[in-house]
Amino acid sequence: MISEPSQKYRPFPPVALSNRQWPSRTLTHAPVWCSVDLRDGNQALAVPMNVSQKLELFEALVRCGFKEIEVGFPAASNTEFAFMRRLIEDRRIPEDVTVQVLVQAREDLIERTVESLKGVRSAIIHLYNSTSPAQRRIVFGLEKPQIVEMARRGTQWIKDRLSQLSGSEVRLEYSPESFSATEVEFSLEVCEAVMDVWNPTPERKIILNLPDTVEVAMPNVYADQIEWFCTHLKRRDCAIISVHTHNDRGTGTAATELALLAGAERVEGTLFGNGERTGNLDVITVALNLYMHGIAPNLDFSDMHALLEVYERCTGMTVPARHPYAGELVFTAFSGSHQDAIRKGLAAWEKTGGRAVWDIPYLTIDPSDLGRKYQEVIRVNSQSGKGGVAYLLESEFGIELPKDMQREFGPLANDAVDALGREVTGAELKAMFWKEYVECLEPLQLQHFHADGTAGVFRCRASLIRDGVRLDVVGEGNGPIAAFVNALASSGVPAFEVTEYREHSLGSGTEASAISYIQVRGADGRRSWGAGVSTHIELASIHGVVSAVNRNLRSQR
Ligand code: KIV
Ligand code: ZN
Repeated sequence: MISEPSQKYRPFPPVALSNRQWPSRTLTHAPVWCSVDLRDGNQALAVPMNVSQKLELFEALVRCGFKEIEVGFPAASNTEFAFMRRLIEDRRIPEDVTVQVLVQAREDLIERTVESLKGVRSAIIHLYNSTSPAQRRIVFGLEKPQIVEMARRGTQWIKDRLSQLSGSEVRLEYSPESFSATEVEFSLEVCEAVMDVWNPTPERKIILNLPDTVEVAMPNVYADQIEWFCTHLKRRDCAIISVHTHNDRGTGTAATELALLAGAERVEGTLFGNGERTGNLDVITVALNLYMHGIAPNLDFSDMHALLEVYERCTGMTVPARHPYAGELVFTAFSGSHQDAIRKGLAAWEKTGGRAVWDIPYLTIDPSDLGRKYQEVIRVNSQSGKGGVAYLLESEFGIELPKDMQREFGPLANDAVDALGREVTGAELKAMFWKEYVECLEPLQLQHFHADGTAGVFRCRASLIRDGVRLDVVGEGNGPIAAFVNALASSGVPAFEVTEYREHSLGSGTEASAISYIQVRGADGRRSWGAGVSTHIELASIHGVVSAVNRNLRSQR
């Protein structure tokens, strides 16, 4: 990099737009969407899709609900031409879907494109030529009038061939390519020249697509360009204003959203933002941004995982883990405070039976709306707090740790995860919990327990192994636990008292077991938690006492 970038680069000139309206508008409805996955997306792949991959992706796009799909550039290659023919001849285009094809303003290419469309029910022919000063000067070596003439001629060549498509409904889309880098007055001049040739009406509108071919300015500048264009276009009622943003400065989504405020009615883009260089606009992001504001996007991403799978298989691209709405980690919280807030938010929302307005900290959208699972919300690494650990044990295994026990087990789990140096699964956490509490069998190991009694007087008999030696004890109390505590006290186990006790069932049916959480306090005041599991409810609590006593005795060593 150079120390004085102004010697090499220059700022983008602002658009002279007084009284701009877009900043005070809000979005209230979805635009018309057009997928360009099979053209702009495909042309940017190291290995372009073959016909069967394009067919598979086309079907996925239809399932999402796209009604306009740019299927390719039929004059560019045999594969593209064959794909168009296959769609038509195999009757794969649903009644309510219009296919779009791209073509440059060259007569031979237009001829071949029209050929590819024969028999189609409804199609958009998308004509484009570059209009920016750099393209005029460097690429074409042409002046403005010749560029206008190029667009006009291309339109006429299409018009002349409409009779070949007499049974089809054909619309024209014109793109002044590099619109964002073109003087707005000149873009307008070219588009109006095209309109003069095509002669659209309010009933048979032309699509004027104003691409942010390369992002050269901030999104507010693009919005100004769109508003300027919309307010200066003479026959505004005869045109649908479409936008097509790329993502060179990382603001393709913002540019599209501001352009919609500025008057655009139609949006072109791709799934997950595939496309030239940094990609095209990710339609999914804009659609779900609308959805999370309560606006029906008219596109369905209920099975994001399946869509992602088709996309990755067909294009060979991968979706980054943090990609908005779709990435593997977007419904994952690593920070303890985030996990805690999400857990509380989900619990409060579930209490309303899912009828309340979605307002969960850190989650802009309900993952289940996209076919993602709540279980994916929280995973545990060494940064996670006790809340995340407890959430995972509860949501995956129904283990409802008492609050105070969470405070004890949370740091123990974090240390263990830290030592592993990676994130752990719920099953691994459960194994840690089992090892620490349920399988804490030293120095005391319960062999046998039996208690009976009524009206507040219970007697018990128990056998234990202590340091390899069998210990038979008897005791009495107002319940089985009290009788067991008494039995241990009378046989030389250091005195302790039970300070907390909770029990619940784990699972249901005949295989169901119970889990107890017991806290004991030793003579020195030290408190320890234990846990016991058994298919027999009484035994679960006795095992819990043994576990707590063992942990307390160990902590004294
Ligand atoms: O980005 C662009 O300008 C294009 C045009 C062909 C519309 O893809
Ligand atoms: Zn493009």
